[in-house]
Amino acid sequence: MNLPERVRIVEVGPRDGLQSETALLSVETKATLIERLAAAGLREIEAGSFVSPKRVPQMASTRETLARLRLSSPTRLSVLTPNLRGLEEALASGVGEIAVFAAASETFSQENIACSIAESLERYAPVVEAACAAGLRVRGYISCVLGCPYEGEIAPRQVASVARDLTALGCHEISLGDTLGVGTPLKARRLVEEVAADVPLRHLAVHFHDTYGQALANIFACLELGVAIVDSSVAGLGGCPYAPGSSGNVATEDVVYMLEGCGLETGVDLFALIDVGKFISERLGRESRSRAARALLAKRARASRAS
Ligand code: HMG
Ligand code: MG
Repeated sequence: MNLPERVRIVEVGPRDGLQSETALLSVETKATLIERLAAAGLREIEAGSFVSPKRVPQMASTRETLARLRLSSPTRLSVLTPNLRGLEEALASGVGEIAVFAAASETFSQENIACSIAESLERYAPVVEAACAAGLRVRGYISCVLGCPYEGEIAPRQVASVARDLTALGCHEISLGDTLGVGTPLKARRLVEEVAADVPLRHLAVHFHDTYGQALANIFACLELGVAIVDSSVAGLGGCPYAPGSSGNVATEDVVYMLEGCGLETGVDLFALIDVGKFISERLGRESRSRAARALLAKRARASRAS
């Protein structure tokens, strides 16, 4: 089996996770979340986005959250930037990475960022150029890679074409987003194979939402192809405000449990991470969506009752 030796996990909970929440969390809670994720061993954390606060109110306090952070370990923070204004904010806040976000579906592109795919790439060109000139890494997202809430099935070729264009702009990494969470393992493999014909596999990340419970199976199918970068969200937080019906990202705890169980290093302390998931789930007033976290917390409670 062709599994990578080490897998990089990109924690997207503080951005993708919290952006769809109706409850607005305090700056202090968001900063604590990021600090605790870093302390649990997550080295790459998407911390927020500089987008229209009217469109995504939950991310309006990204600047304040970043300013408050006190990280005890080396962690690369990233933010979503839809335009040069967002990039200016990112530069002022001192993050090491930005992400631009395109789509594989025209309708989703219009709904999400109010322009066509081609216009979004034009808009991103100066953003990526200026970010690279300032020494930042730039990630390129593609949404709706395995299905769109408005257009249904998406051809893998269409995804590959956007991936090639984002790479040509200067994105160092392309995250393939199954925004709706509709993908299944063989479709996910076919997609990665198609995109890898245009963009080297080592530059591809997978970003699965877990709406239909397929995310871990999809991830494993892609790992077998050699993909070594996985996006996930603590406690399975998340969704996309412009993808009605989609649920959270695959839970980071479940990804870590699976990877470590397969002998793949993640560098993450699973038990510390589970406590972070418990913390944020309590703040949101709901149960964690992580199956591994629920099972291990129940086991811990049984053990403490028995002792
Ligand atoms: P626009 O509608 O084209 O118009 O915005 P605009 O450029 O004239 O700006 C509209 C308003 O946004 C104006 O304010 C601007 O000042 C403000 P108003 O006059 O209405 O008061 N604005 C900004 N504010 C703060 N920071 C900025 C900024 N830029 C403009 N940088 C725009 C285009 C993209 C900005 C807008 O449509 C927008 O913010 N959309 C939200 C996009 C978003 O965050 N979506 C969710 C993230 S994507 C995702 O979740 C998928 C992903 O996870 C992958 C996956 O799962 O597949 C990445
Ligand atoms: Mg997402």
